[in-house]
Amino acid sequence: MSDASPQTVFLSDYQPFSHVLKQVSLVFRLSPQATRVQARIDLAPNPARPGKHDLRLDGESVKLISCKVDGRDVAPLVDATGLTLAAADLPDGAFVLETEVEIAPEANTALEGLYMSRGMYCTQCEAEGFRKITYYPDRPDVMAPFKVRVEGDLPVLLSNGNPVGQGAGWAEWNDPWPKPAYLFALVAGELVAHSAPFRTASGRSVDLNIWVRPGDEDRCAYAMDSLIRSMRWDEEVYGREYDLDVFNIVAVDDFNMGAMENKGLNIFNSKFVLASPETATDDDFARIEAIIAHEYFHNWTGNRITCRDWFQLCLKEGLTVFRDQQFSGDMRSHAVKRIEDVLMLRARQFREDQGPLAHPVRPESYMEINNFYTATVYEKGAEVIGMLKRLVGDEGYAKALDLYFDRHDGEAATIEDWLKVFEDATGRDLAQFKRWYSEAGTPRLKVSEEWAEGRLTLQFEQENPATPGQEVKGAKVLPIAVGLIGPNGDEAVPTTVLEMTETRQSFSFEGLGARPVVSILRGFSAPVVLERDLTPVDRAFLLAHDTDPFNKWEAGRALAKDVLARMVAEGADVAPMWLDAMAGVAFDDRLDPAFRALCLRLPSDDDMAQTLHAAGHVPDPARIYASRRTMGDALAHRLRDGLEGLMASMSVSGAFTPDAVSAGKRALGNAALGLVSRLDGGAAAKDAWAKADNMTDRIGALSALIDLGKAEAALAEFAAMFGQDGNVMDKWYMLQIALAAPDRAVEVAKELTALPEFNWKNPNRFRSVIGALSANHAGFHRADGAAYAFVADWLMKLDPLNPQTAARMSTAFETWRRYDADRQQMVQEQLRRILAQPGLSRDMTEMAGRMQKGG
Ligand code: TRP
Ligand code: ZN
Repeated sequence: MSDASPQTVFLSDYQPFSHVLKQVSLVFRLSPQATRVQARIDLAPNPARPGKHDLRLDGESVKLISCKVDGRDVAPLVDATGLTLAAADLPDGAFVLETEVEIAPEANTALEGLYMSRGMYCTQCEAEGFRKITYYPDRPDVMAPFKVRVEGDLPVLLSNGNPVGQGAGWAEWNDPWPKPAYLFALVAGELVAHSAPFRTASGRSVDLNIWVRPGDEDRCAYAMDSLIRSMRWDEEVYGREYDLDVFNIVAVDDFNMGAMENKGLNIFNSKFVLASPETATDDDFARIEAIIAHEYFHNWTGNRITCRDWFQLCLKEGLTVFRDQQFSGDMRSHAVKRIEDVLMLRARQFREDQGPLAHPVRPESYMEINNFYTATVYEKGAEVIGMLKRLVGDEGYAKALDLYFDRHDGEAATIEDWLKVFEDATGRDLAQFKRWYSEAGTPRLKVSEEWAEGRLTLQFEQENPATPGQEVKGAKVLPIAVGLIGPNGDEAVPTTVLEMTETRQSFSFEGLGARPVVSILRGFSAPVVLERDLTPVDRAFLLAHDTDPFNKWEAGRALAKDVLARMVAEGADVAPMWLDAMAGVAFDDRLDPAFRALCLRLPSDDDMAQTLHAAGHVPDPARIYASRRTMGDALAHRLRDGLEGLMASMSVSGAFTPDAVSAGKRALGNAALGLVSRLDGGAAAKDAWAKADNMTDRIGALSALIDLGKAEAALAEFAAMFGQDGNVMDKWYMLQIALAAPDRAVEVAKELTALPEFNWKNPNRFRSVIGALSANHAGFHRADGAAYAFVADWLMKLDPLNPQTAARMSTAFETWRRYDADRQQMVQEQLRRILAQPGLSRDMTEMAGRMQKGG
């Protein structure tokens, strides 16, 4: 796991593998401490690599038992990262390699390779976990059909592809679709299935199964429904059908990420499968729907067409996120989905892009690929595709995608291949657009307006700030969606996409009767920071009249940020103008409740710190926290007369359903409850807690009570009700820390981590504490550095066992550059302490090192 001198891998070093693989057959004899894996691989020299080459196979923490070439024992050279068979010892043409190795799944705490979770065997092979299962060319451009035989004394034995036979203690699987090793999966356990049939558009019958531990089968219905809708949607919108006889999903409790798209056998973090009204919030339901769709959509974008190497990760992830966002928009509300996606993009990707960990959507080097499953690769990767679609239009996009599937099915492709299908399908030159893939950083877009005699000119200027290792950058292609609103509130010019390609560029609209208010970057048409001196009056006007729902919300958001920034920086009062604007939105029954709930959400502390820093201030976490609370209190007072009525009108009667309309009502109702609680000392929240009959309302009430410091009884009741359910209890840990007062957050985290139930080796549980503390902005950045030290201690404790999750959580420290010299020094001290830890993982060495340099 640890490496004396971690190596850096470069995109420019890519070479095809020495050999091609025709067929892989695996036999697993499962045993917790000594699982045997036999591999039989049909190999031949790769014509793309002329000459005779050594055969180098990756392998880590596997014990070689035997190795044969064409049936004869051979003695390969074995080292810590693999084995080598010298060219001279290999036949000239095709040959068969047979190996047997021993591995110990029970000792595998990293949750990568074959491991055990609560008595169940499961695998996680992306990105480079297969090498912990057997010796193999563990790289995505080596693809082969797999046959797998699993032997073990557990009732359910699963692998990829179609089942071809089973008996007492064994099962055989055949996956005819050539795949890279990262898509391999195996599961064995005492599991039960929630099943449903599916018929594809062309008439193929598919058995759908969601496998869970006995007792959980009644909480799979929503995941199954989401799967069926995803499968139908991909047929209807992308013309993509499923291609095997079975589709299996397995829920596991110990998992490093959200879920994994293994061919025909998706493995999920159980928190993204199991849901009932009693245990899952509306947000949980929405996330389950999105992740089920995401993993299913990978069957075409990721599996049928995979990545040539890990630098191309965004080829599958950016596209698949884009597709799951489209799907969720179609299932729910496009406006609400877009706003939520942009909130996430700013909170995670802009934050990353503006700090020491900034990297391009397609990075050019890495030490540990697991560190590049980032918001930039995923979310910015999806934004880049959204821009492409806007530039070429819906028809051009559809043509390009058809060509992509046609041309590259069965291949391991690159970003060059991806852009070429757009060029060939639409005749467009994308050379400049490609900078979005190679250059890191969030562009800043400034705009000024000129008005004269019916002519409005917009003068744009883009700035592409330096990021680590990239000082100078070229102008980006920016699709800027613009609409003009006349003074009477009618749309004077509907949405037009301006295509900016220069550093400075202006666009004019002629023949206008009166000076309009301009709505810029509609739908958030490019992932940039828009810098615009718009008067509060104009922002309020756009909030009231913009026909583009994203920009309508954005106008209120920008107004709130202006107000809050002035409160923090100048000690200004809460602007009545903003309060009036919020009153206008909150009680406007023509607007979707979910949209109104989003409008009432205040900018987060971290968002304000990011914004203030970008504007040249040094953010003071305590001041931001205090100002934001003042702002919330003022909002509560301004809306006070309508809040009770709003809560009443948003109550949803009848049995709980997780649909978007009901969820929107609950979101607005709970937002109103949060505001009322600032006025009534907690009476309404206690009442809501007593009445809550679903997890959404329970969490709404509990959050309000924690915020008031009056949650002791409710927390105890919650623990009594849900103590047996780890995923539900994670909410209990998370909320107490995330909502703790800044001076209490570390203490609460210390108390909770001292509980015997704090099972820190479970990634969900670890995140629910360490993630929540880092998300409590003022608590994490407490002036005495106590939270920095606490988080660093836990990262160092987890790193030797699970480097992947530890490294991921270390991004808590990525924003240190924003803050004052004292805080900078304290973070640096923690990074030094981490880096000095003997045996530190490659994962953490890379992350702490990159953050230390600071950018
Ligand atoms: N490919 C997965 C997805 O996006 C991500 C993933 C799941 C992953 N588990 C992982 C990535 C472990 C790295 C390591 O759907
Ligand atoms: Zn994915």
